[in-house]
Amino acid sequence: MCGIVGYIGDREIKKQLIDGLRELEYRGYDSAGIAVMQEGNISTFKAVGKLANLEGKTKDFRTEGMGVGIGHTRWATHGKPTELNAHPHMGEYSYVVHNGIIENYREIKEMLEELGVRFLSQTDTEVIVHLFEKEAERHADLFSAFKATIDQLDGAYAVLLVTQKAPDTVFFARKGSPMIIGRNKEGEVFFASSDAPLIGEATEVAYMEDGTVGYATPEKIYAEPDELLFVPLAGDKLTAQKGGYRFFMEKEIYEQYDVIGDTMIGRVLDDDIVFEELDDAFLEGITRIKLCACGTSYHAALTSSYLFERMAKMPVNVEIASEFRYKEPLLTDDTLFVVISQSGETADTLEALRMAKEAGLKTLAICNVDNSSIVRLADATILTRAGIEKGVASTKAFATQVMVLWMLTLFFAKKRGTVTDATMRDELRYMSYVPKVLQKSLEVHEKCKRLSKRYLHGHGFFFIGRDIFFPLALEGALKLKEISYLHAEGYPAGEMKHGPIALADAELFTIALMPKTLLYDKTKSNVEELSARDSTILAISPEMFDLADDFILTHPHKHPMLEFFEMMVVEQLLSMEIAIRLGNDVDMPRNLAKSVTVE
Ligand code: F6R
Repeated sequence: MCGIVGYIGDREIKKQLIDGLRELEYRGYDSAGIAVMQEGNISTFKAVGKLANLEGKTKDFRTEGMGVGIGHTRWATHGKPTELNAHPHMGEYSYVVHNGIIENYREIKEMLEELGVRFLSQTDTEVIVHLFEKEAERHADLFSAFKATIDQLDGAYAVLLVTQKAPDTVFFARKGSPMIIGRNKEGEVFFASSDAPLIGEATEVAYMEDGTVGYATPEKIYAEPDELLFVPLAGDKLTAQKGGYRFFMEKEIYEQYDVIGDTMIGRVLDDDIVFEELDDAFLEGITRIKLCACGTSYHAALTSSYLFERMAKMPVNVEIASEFRYKEPLLTDDTLFVVISQSGETADTLEALRMAKEAGLKTLAICNVDNSSIVRLADATILTRAGIEKGVASTKAFATQVMVLWMLTLFFAKKRGTVTDATMRDELRYMSYVPKVLQKSLEVHEKCKRLSKRYLHGHGFFFIGRDIFFPLALEGALKLKEISYLHAEGYPAGEMKHGPIALADAELFTIALMPKTLLYDKTKSNVEELSARDSTILAISPEMFDLADDFILTHPHKHPMLEFFEMMVVEQLLSMEIAIRLGNDVDMPRNLAKSVTVE
């Protein structure tokens, strides 16, 4: 995912920009660049690869005194990772950095080419700077020209633009892609894609709303349509990083709707899924898939096994990495071996990947950390783009893993011709609703807080569900036991009658996942059996169910995956609130470290 930084002030500008970009490295990138402007003179530097390469190129460049600068780390979406395609992109006298996708860039490019503009890069971003210079010819002031430019862009963007015609100004706009602006008492102004580069630098920050457009100078920050709302940014790193939330886990639950958009960007189109990471030669001869992971990542894998078989008609099997590595697995070279890992460092998953490679299988990592051991070892990688996950209980990493796997299912389904064009378009339309669903699902937070007081004791919890809601039940139980230290199990709803129902009494809490779009009546009758044995039932469903003791009403949806994502958030919030009431530090549960790298 691309990262953006900007700076106005009198410190060494190059250093400010590169230090800021380093804080955004976790987003992944393949090239980087900066533009520094002082008294109307602009210097730009770009380099492919790591920031060290950019530092190498700028080692003899220094600034003193007031100036402005913009910087960017690029993850290629349009055009290869080359210096020409790296940002900032330049016009005749202006420079731009951009994070997101300009969907109508082809139309704008054609229009500008007819007017005689020559393009240097293959990117969508370059249209912004040329369009701005054309608009500047038509408008009396540069801000009007900038607004007119932004008005013509469709898609998602966070944009910073500097121009020699306004030497102390940075123009900014945001829609769909994140951007934060910060300032301090020394009069410095900072921009970044997340708060990480601003911590310790800015004393207050404004989280820009979608549709914001404005400009900043050393004297003034102006934004439309609404004034920016600056809030204090704590100076100490830990408090600041929590951004006002009680725990990292809570912050990360709330971030899900944003990061899921990042996961989809450039990959989900109206009628297709694009994975530049996977080419036809790599996939040739693949007829089956083996998914391998641990813990929460294993639950994401298990979820997708239902989708792969249903949509892509591919045989799939799912392995727990710590089991797989000690088996004598039969591996055939028509199998794509997919490992899933948030950290990219989990020892069992890494070892399983090594075994698959040694057996000559093609390997794919679905991972959140670029340059991790798993990413370095796998033949191909799809990054989940969840951003740094600090809470020990995985939340947003799980959401993005499931999203990537759903996308991968459709990618294979299209390639194998197992879905019609109409079904594909429907699936993609529902997929595009997921960020909104994640946002709306947070509405039940208060309800989870209130309900949590009734679920602090008892002799155990059963999370139950069917189909993809069974792995979600496993995930709910894992979340709860990991941070509350209460005993919880995830179970297929239809299996309860084969033994576990013997445990049912009022002190057994059943958390029933009852989606309307998938096997509702079957699940309902399983819950009725538990209710008949007096188990205490908390139903999570869009439909009221009178045998439930408690109820969390979800929104009605037309697609099971939308119900899945909403119920996922409910489980996360509920587990967190129960754990908080029990007085636990949900970010650092006992006996657990974030990634288990040693045996
Ligand atoms: C649960 C959790 C763990 C991890 C597991 C695998 O909340 O975080 O179960 O999912 O340790 O870790 P990764 O995905 O980093 O390989």
